[in-house]
Amino acid sequence: MQVKKLIDLDVKGKKVFIRADLNVPQDDAGNITEDTRIRASIPSIKFALEGGAAVMVTSHLGRPTEGELNAEDSLAPVAVRLGQLLHKPVRLIQNWVEGGFEVAPGEVVLLENCRCNKGEKKDNEELAKKMAALCDIYVNDAFGTAHRAEATTHGIARFAPVACAGILMGGEIDALGKALHAPKRPLVAIVGGSKVSSKLTILKSLADKVDQLIVGGGIANTFLLASGKRIGDSLAEPDLVKEAHAIMDMMKERGAEVPLPTDVVVADEVSALARANKISVDDVAVHDRILDIGPKSAARLGEIIANAGTIVWNGPVGVFELPQFAGGTKMMASAIAHSEAFSIAGGGDTLAAIAKFHIADDVGYISTGGGAFLEFLEGKTLPAIAALEERFKD
Ligand code: 3PG
Ligand code: MG
Repeated sequence: MQVKKLIDLDVKGKKVFIRADLNVPQDDAGNITEDTRIRASIPSIKFALEGGAAVMVTSHLGRPTEGELNAEDSLAPVAVRLGQLLHKPVRLIQNWVEGGFEVAPGEVVLLENCRCNKGEKKDNEELAKKMAALCDIYVNDAFGTAHRAEATTHGIARFAPVACAGILMGGEIDALGKALHAPKRPLVAIVGGSKVSSKLTILKSLADKVDQLIVGGGIANTFLLASGKRIGDSLAEPDLVKEAHAIMDMMKERGAEVPLPTDVVVADEVSALARANKISVDDVAVHDRILDIGPKSAARLGEIIANAGTIVWNGPVGVFELPQFAGGTKMMASAIAHSEAFSIAGGGDTLAAIAKFHIADDVGYISTGGGAFLEFLEGKTLPAIAALEERFKD
């Protein structure tokens, strides 16, 4: 993957347009509840500011209706947080596509939610050209949105005088590429979460590469069904049993494996008051719901993780938000933290688990991508990165 990089450019006196991914979770009052993506965007902004550029930053927030700007779509809280992290005021500019606003060298402005502009989602060429005309250098630092071909992530890269990758984007490509292209073996992937259907492509593509594919949550239940176990009232997708079977066969043929839980934690409901029972996977009763892996299975996964060379982690293995079903994910997080392996993790639930179990400093690389993280690991070409590659030679 060859792209121009911001850090190789002289930005003095230049107008620099940075597309960041500042799409952060907020509570009902609009307060930012988790600011990792804003923090991760700081290095590129600082680099441009310290290099003497006039800096414009934009991002989407949520999935607003184009052509409207409702209060809840506004980047206003993000501008405040950005200002705190940069120790300087960040002006928020509305109706910015046609230009007509000032930004001085050494100053940074935040351009209001780019998805409120008509044509953004459809990668409209006219919109992209107008935005490109605002800058001398276009920087894409929005790895979290790299799987979307939109006007600020794709079209603009074709028309800006220079198009390059920001520091975060470059770091993501390097770290994820390292795990994907020349991983130290054994390569272990952990794919958890509720549905096989939403992760089928990543499961299939990993099944072709990894030495052990650890499945968790509702995904594991579907695999248990495929291996002939009874799962009672657990969340699963019976129509995907064939697919799960095919993945296990594919792994077996290569001498690799999908280690399935041998013991589980069950309850009759998913609630804070639910009574949890640890039982053998062979003893699951009709009304039981499997909500975590049991201690024996967790210990086995711990061993696999301890011996890994590279670990790719997306998704929890149990309902870790509730203490009685958090044991498996906690044990796994601790095993990843203690492992010598190069580990990468990504996805909203995974980041929440990392924060909950305080292992952020012990994970090799934490991706800011959710969908983009998965698609990159699937080996798909991400349109935003492809657009930068196109501009590498000129
Ligand atoms: C994300 O949160 O996954 C990215 O910011 C992309 O957002 P989207 O799924 O709304 O395109
Ligand atoms: Mg999303």
